[in-house]
Amino acid sequence: MKPPIAVVVLAAGAGTRMKSALPKVLHPLAGWPMLRHVLETVGRLRPVRVVGVVAPGAATVAAGFAPHPTVVQRRALGTGHAAKAALGALAGHRGPVLVVYGDSPLVTTATLQRLVQACRRSGAAVGVLGFVARDPSPYGRLVVRDGVLERIVESRDAGPDERAIDFCNSGVMCLDGAAIGDLLGAIRNDNAKREYYLTDAVAIARAAGRLAIAVAGEEAEFKGVNSRAELADAERTLQQRLRAAALAGGVTMADPETVWLAADTRLAADVTLGPNVRFGLGVSVASGTEIKAFCDIEGARIGRGAIIGPFARIRPGSEVADAAHVGNFVELKATRMGRGAKANHLAYLGDSAIGRGSNIGAGTIFVNYDGYGKWRTEIGADAFVGSNSSLVAPVRIGRGANVTAGSVVTEDVPPGAVAFGRARQVTKKGRAAALRAKLKVRAAEAKRSRKQ
Ligand code: UD1
Ligand code: MG
Repeated sequence: MKPPIAVVVLAAGAGTRMKSALPKVLHPLAGWPMLRHVLETVGRLRPVRVVGVVAPGAATVAAGFAPHPTVVQRRALGTGHAAKAALGALAGHRGPVLVVYGDSPLVTTATLQRLVQACRRSGAAVGVLGFVARDPSPYGRLVVRDGVLERIVESRDAGPDERAIDFCNSGVMCLDGAAIGDLLGAIRNDNAKREYYLTDAVAIARAAGRLAIAVAGEEAEFKGVNSRAELADAERTLQQRLRAAALAGGVTMADPETVWLAADTRLAADVTLGPNVRFGLGVSVASGTEIKAFCDIEGARIGRGAIIGPFARIRPGSEVADAAHVGNFVELKATRMGRGAKANHLAYLGDSAIGRGSNIGAGTIFVNYDGYGKWRTEIGADAFVGSNSSLVAPVRIGRGANVTAGSVVTEDVPPGAVAFGRARQVTKKGRAAALRAKLKVRAAEAKRSRKQ
């Protein structure tokens, strides 16, 4: 059996360029904290251990690593110093140790796998993922001779020949677990930044007669996030990947670039999405359902053959059963719409259950909040709620009941009953002309008194 993998995630950097009260690695991308993307990516390698390295007092970052343990790097003295902080948590581990950055969420499992495999095959003590950089200036340069990685030189410490190298260090490193203690222990801070560079592990391994290698990847996977602009770039890349995966999975999109997905959005084959649809976390949509333009959906399960939107908002805790319709300017919150139920226009339906086949008319409001508590509205199957009705919760409308248009319903309506909750209409025959004459006189008098 191959020795198992351990992973160290460095996340003790300051991230001050984000100008944020929120630690950098917790900024969301496709709905998840950046760190979670990294943890999911390394998680697919089935590591036996994952250790986070965090700054002192970074309780929220440590919580972001849960259930994985974290160690605290007391002072940010460099990447080598940070990796060394994890050594205690790696005690006894003999397999490869992968070091990745918490602020580089775009690297893929396949690329990490290639590095680990290359290290296993070659027996290298150190392996590094490299890439040809369009602008190499911010990166460490990989000095490769005859296929062997001899050393990594940081920009500030590089001479002119080294500075001309465009093959750069991504920061992802794979170290032999049996040698990692010796390699990291030998790192000194004799460089321009007076930092302990993890990258020095390469030259240290070579001096000890061990092999080091570089495995090439794509620059796009190694983009780190240091600013809001880079956060937006990373979001764009992740969205492109999520859209591509959805399309490959059989989803039709009228204009993919305008569809915003969350990292966990589940769209079945033969779902159709109009332009400008946004998914928050926790949405699944079953086959044959159409989501028309400009919908915003979060925390909802949507069944088969449903029609949603355009301009629908579905909020967390909602469930739309098969063949139900949620039309334009309809908002659902913590609402279950039964099979084939319809709310086609202009409605707020919150904290409710709507039975199968029921019809909710235009302008219906479920009055769920009285300023203190939230209350439920329960509607049985095959009920009809006429347009412009307010159902003042808590309230129940029985199976097959009919609420007439414009009603304010404050009492339960039993199954099969008709409820009128409005003033009775008064019709006065032949009185329209007299009314108009009266109104005309009143308007003229008002105009005269304004002139005086
Ligand atoms: C590092 C590499 C460089 C590489 C580049 C890729 C070193 C010496 N240099 O440079 O070769 O091209 O990344 O982006 O490794 N961190 C800590 N504690 C510390 C310092 C850093 O946890 O004391 C973490 C940071 O949070 C960050 C990562 O390590 O996630 C990299 O640190 P950073 O300061 O960005 O390193 P670079 O100078 O960019
Ligand atoms: Mg950096």
